[in-house]
Formats: sequence, C-alpha cells, structure tokens
Amino acid sequence: MNIDYSEKIPNNVNLVENRTLQRALEHWQPAFLDWWGDMGPEGTKGYDIYLRTAISVDPKGWAHFDYVKMPDYRWGIFLNPAEADRKVNFGAHKGEPAWQEVPGEYRANLRRLIVTQGDTEPASVEQQRHLGLTAPSLYDLRNLFQVNVEEGRHLWAMVYLLHAYFGRDGREEAEALLERRSGDADNPRILGAFNERTPDWLAFFMFTYFTDRDGKYQLCSLAESGFDPLARTTRFMLTEEAHHMFVGESGVGRVIQRTAEVMVQQRIDDPAEVRRHGVIDLPTIQRYLNFHFSVTMDLFGADVSSNAATFYSTGLKGRFEETKADDDHLLTGAAYPVLEVRNGRLATSEAPALNALNERLRDDFIKDAAAGVERWNRILQKQGVAFAFKVPHKAFNRKIGPLSTAKIDPDGNVVSDAEWNANVARWLPSESDRAFVASLMGRVIEPGKFANWIAPPPRGINNQSLDFQYVRFD
Ligand SMILES: [Fe+2]
Ligand SMILES: [Fe+2]
Repeated sequence: MNIDYSEKIPNNVNLVENRTLQRALEHWQPAFLDWWGDMGPEGTKGYDIYLRTAISVDPKGWAHFDYVKMPDYRWGIFLNPAEADRKVNFGAHKGEPAWQEVPGEYRANLRRLIVTQGDTEPASVEQQRHLGLTAPSLYDLRNLFQVNVEEGRHLWAMVYLLHAYFGRDGREEAEALLERRSGDADNPRILGAFNERTPDWLAFFMFTYFTDRDGKYQLCSLAESGFDPLARTTRFMLTEEAHHMFVGESGVGRVIQRTAEVMVQQRIDDPAEVRRHGVIDLPTIQRYLNFHFSVTMDLFGADVSSNAATFYSTGLKGRFEETKADDDHLLTGAAYPVLEVRNGRLATSEAPALNALNERLRDDFIKDAAAGVERWNRILQKQGVAFAFKVPHKAFNRKIGPLSTAKIDPDGNVVSDAEWNANVARWLPSESDRAFVASLMGRVIEPGKFANWIAPPPRGINNQSLDFQYVRFD
C-alpha cells in the first residue's frame, strides 16, 4: 500500500477517515516543526540532501531516495500490516486475541512505555545537532541527516499512538515530548544516556553502534506487545533502525581501518606518535567504546525490576524474539542469573526470571554488540596490527542498579575509590582524549573527499558512487 503524499501527514493508518485524530496531529505538527527548527540539525535550512523517505511498508521497496530540502522532509506514520488473528503471545493473557484498543487497567503502564521510547527519539536528534558542522565527508553528512530525520519519524510513530489511543493525557504527553531537552538541568530527557553529549564523530559512531542498538532491543521487545498498534508501529521502526546501526558499525570500522593503515605505513604503535599523524590511537577508541557501552548498559534498567515483571506478565512488553523462545512464555517459577557485589567482589545470584527481564535483554544485547566488536578486530588482524578491542564487563561504570554502588573495572574486578581514580583515565575518555578527537574534527565537503582520520567506505548509498553529491548547499 503506497502512501498518499498529497495529504499533509503521509500515513498508512487511514488518517483521512479519522477527523479528530487528524486534527490533533495537524495541531501537533507545527509544534514539531518549531522544535525541529530549534533543536534539529544546526544550519541546514536550504540544504538539498539525498535522503530516503519511507513511502510504503513493503519490505521489497519501502524507501524512496531523492534530494529533499531539509525542513520539507515528510515525516509520516507507518504501521506494519496487521497479522490476521494475532494473539497475545506471553503473560497472563497468553492466547487471547491481541488488543486493538488499550486495556483500561494497563493504560498508565502502556503510556509510560510509549513515552519512554518516544522520548529517546528527539533526544538523539538534540544530542547530534552540532555534528553536521564537522562532518568528515558528504557521505557521512548525509548519513547523519538520514539518522536524524528517521529519529524524527520515530517520534511521530510514538506520538501517533499517544494521540490515537490515549485521549487528553496522550496529547499532553505528546507536547511534553517536544519540551524536554537533552542535557537540560531543569527538564532533561527521561533516560541518562540521552542526556550525555555527542560532541564528536567518534562519539556519534559509538552512539549509533551501541545506543541505537539498545533502541533495536527495546523496539524488538515492544514489537511483541499484546497491544497490536504498538507491535505494528515498532516493527516498522526496526526497518529504519538497521541503517542507524550500520552507520555506527561501519563508521567505527572506518576509523579503525584508517588508524591501522597509518600504523602499518609508518611502522608505529605508540599512541602519542599515532596521534601526531592525525589519526585516532587505538586505546582512545577503546576508551570511547568503554564509555558508550557502559552508558548503554544502564539504559536497560535495574537488574531486578518489578516493573519489568509487570510489563511482561500483563502482556505489554515481551522478550527479544519472544515467540521463538522454547518455554511456557509465562516465566513463573523460572530463575535467571543476575550480578551483585558480595564481600567486595562480583557474585552471581538467581533472581525470578520475571523480575530479571531487563538483565536478560541486556545479555541479548551484549551478544549482538560483541559480535560487531569482533568484526572490528578482524580489520586490525587483516592489517597485521597486534591490538584487540574488548567489550568491557557489563558491571563496569554502572550508574543504575545494585552494581552502581561499587567501583568496578572493565574486567569486572571491584576496585577501591583510590584504584578507580588512579586508573580511570585508562578506562574512560579523559578531557584530553576528547580534546584530541575534537581537534581532528573539521568539515570536509568536497565530493569524494574524506577527512584524514577516517577511511572511505567501500561503497556509496543506494548504489551511488563515493564522489556523488550527497548534499547540495545553497
Ligand atoms: Fe529511533
Ligand atoms: Fe535510531
């Protein structure tokens, strides 16, 4: 089903037949555009950007590529097609028909899940808004804007649910989504990682690799929801999310590639010398990795959580690949290992599986994220560089949950405050690391040219060449 772009808000939800909803959204749209103008990518007005726009939900051809003037991007509302006779697949309502309306008793929890997800979308746009000024190439600049407009569309997806299913409080939540600001002391975004700065492109690539991947795991869990409209809208969001993680994985990979090339050509491995050649030394990349990984660990929430148990047993939020799990999909009586600090060291204990669902999702994420780190290591192996990136222990540098009460190093050892302070500059990016990376950032906008600190990608976007004019400036 193709989307009618003559409508004000492109959609495949039959908006034209729901005047009340249409009016609510048409009222919200100018507020969204104001927010985009204030908090969206800086200085882009009038740019012609080669972007993909969702025009259908057909897996074989959902996207259309063309130049779009930045403020004219058509943010639309797309749900995956309904699955005939879909059921609630887990929890107390397992086997009942999936809900097409919000069950009254679960209204507050469902709204909270939608608002928490929705809040991350504009937050990342805010975090990334200055990066266009220092893009290492037109190709990268275009990818940044692609991620930004799609996070904007994800906000639309959540706001659609709030407007369509939650009445007045949904409309109020939709407004509040445009009022919170990433990093704002008085009115911050809901989750910690979305209030951190994304000051440079290495941080951006790490963010899209790790933090957008948290998005994938949250969306996958919501795509299992018994509330069918939420399941269908998050399914389609996952289609777009894949590109965001690609930008992250390939971006970090190209940074590593370039550094390795210089190390081999110059026969050097001392980080200070590597820096003198204008590329990012591998230990600094490891520290960025440690930071973004640990901040993302916290996004999954407390290791043992009664909310997580409630969301699951009431059928609102499932597990990653819920329907593939070979168990009763109730989890009552089952156990799952969680970590705690006991007698000055990390120890495993068994928690009720229902309460440990955040931990389980975190573990699913770690497996996926670690596989990409191994792909980065293969780039080093190919170049013959003797260095291997490591995924830090999941207890490292935590700010949420019982593990946040102790200082834990990247190998999972509980350390004293003195040990932590003496070593933290080896584990996490220091001010001087960040200043060095910042010193490399400079805008490269000649088609086909790339900044010295990053290798070109093997191929362009949508079969275009690397020297394609991905962004046209006025
Ligand atoms: Fe998103
Ligand atoms: Fe994303």
